[in-house]
Amino acid sequence: MTAAPLRLIQVGAGAMGRAWLRTIADNPDVELVALVDLNTAAAEQAAMEHDAAGIVITDSLEDAITRTAPDAVVDVTVPVAHSVVNITALRAGLPVLCEKPIAPTVADAREQARVAEETGLLLMTSQSRRYYRALSRFRDQIRALGAVGSVSTRFFKAPHFGGFREEMRHVLLVDMAIHAFDAVRYLTGSDPIAVVCVESNPPWSWFAHGANAVAVFEFEDGSTFTYDGSWCAPGDETSWNGSWFVSGEHGTATWDGDGDPVLTGSVELAHTPASGREEIAGALEDFVDAVRTGRTPDTEVHANIVSLAMVEAAVLSAEEGRRVLLAEVLGS
Ligand SMILES: NC(=O)c1ccc[n+]([C@@H]2O[C@H](COP(=O)([O-])OP(=O)(O)OC[C@H]3O[C@@H](n4cnc5c(N)ncnc54)[C@H](O)[C@@H]3O)[C@@H](O)[C@H]2O)c1
Repeated sequence: MTAAPLRLIQVGAGAMGRAWLRTIADNPDVELVALVDLNTAAAEQAAMEHDAAGIVITDSLEDAITRTAPDAVVDVTVPVAHSVVNITALRAGLPVLCEKPIAPTVADAREQARVAEETGLLLMTSQSRRYYRALSRFRDQIRALGAVGSVSTRFFKAPHFGGFREEMRHVLLVDMAIHAFDAVRYLTGSDPIAVVCVESNPPWSWFAHGANAVAVFEFEDGSTFTYDGSWCAPGDETSWNGSWFVSGEHGTATWDGDGDPVLTGSVELAHTPASGREEIAGALEDFVDAVRTGRTPDTEVHANIVSLAMVEAAVLSAEEGRRVLLAEVLGS
């Protein structure tokens, strides 16, 4: 027997909201019943462009919930609005899939985690860059290397977004680096204990603050992770996933973030083709399965807080010019 599609309310109809509208439309396991945005004209326009003309459009999540009897909420608003949207949905009895970062601060994320515990409902972050078949292959290769000594990621891009990113502080660390920070935990299965970070903003930067950052993390397994990135780096740009190099006991594993990862050394790995949807479509598929089965996904809010804490610890280190323990920001 096939289950009925999950009835979804999407909150946020901006740039990423449009990508979510397409993704929801492409997945037969979900059905969009309402689109909420403070800017209802933008929501109407986005709905029309994505063949979702008959759905409820409103500027109030409460109103949408009352009018549509939904099963879940997808939150694609800006990071500062995530908390109010997610908590409203959870308190109304609805599980939530929220765009990264789940919150601008660890304290804010912990409050959301507390409400998720209280309500017993799933609050999951869409860490879309976890859902790459090449990434899961890369993880298999890293596991085959034995103990990991060091991991490094270079991320060099030159996007002109306009909007909130060009005005915010710590833009690279807060808005982008979380993808790599989260990915390294997924790849190595280890968690960080401390970080030293230096931020800068090159003279030609079109961002107000922190377009460049170098962060070195120490991990609990004794390995190090170095992130070297820039968001105003025209020229030989890396992929959006960054360029990865892992040195382990039995060799190296490298990935350019686009193609197949490469394993070099005294190890062999059988090729097992991975399946499943990629990027936000993969996150949505994972969310639907978790809601239906009660399984806890890897990016459930409690686990995701460690990735967020990596960002906050790196920001604190850059601001105060010192080594910061993750425990300081996790409050543990
Ligand atoms: N996974 C990825 O690769 C990826 C890529 C880009 C953006 N994102 C994330 O997606 C989110 C949205 O980014 P964006 O680029 O679409 O931003 P955006 O500014 O283009 O759109 C955000 C929309 O949310 C609406 N909004 C804000 N507060 C609201 C509230 N309280 N209630 C209802 N609507 C509200 C705004 O009116 C706007 O239309 C961010 O968290 C961002 O980090 C993820």
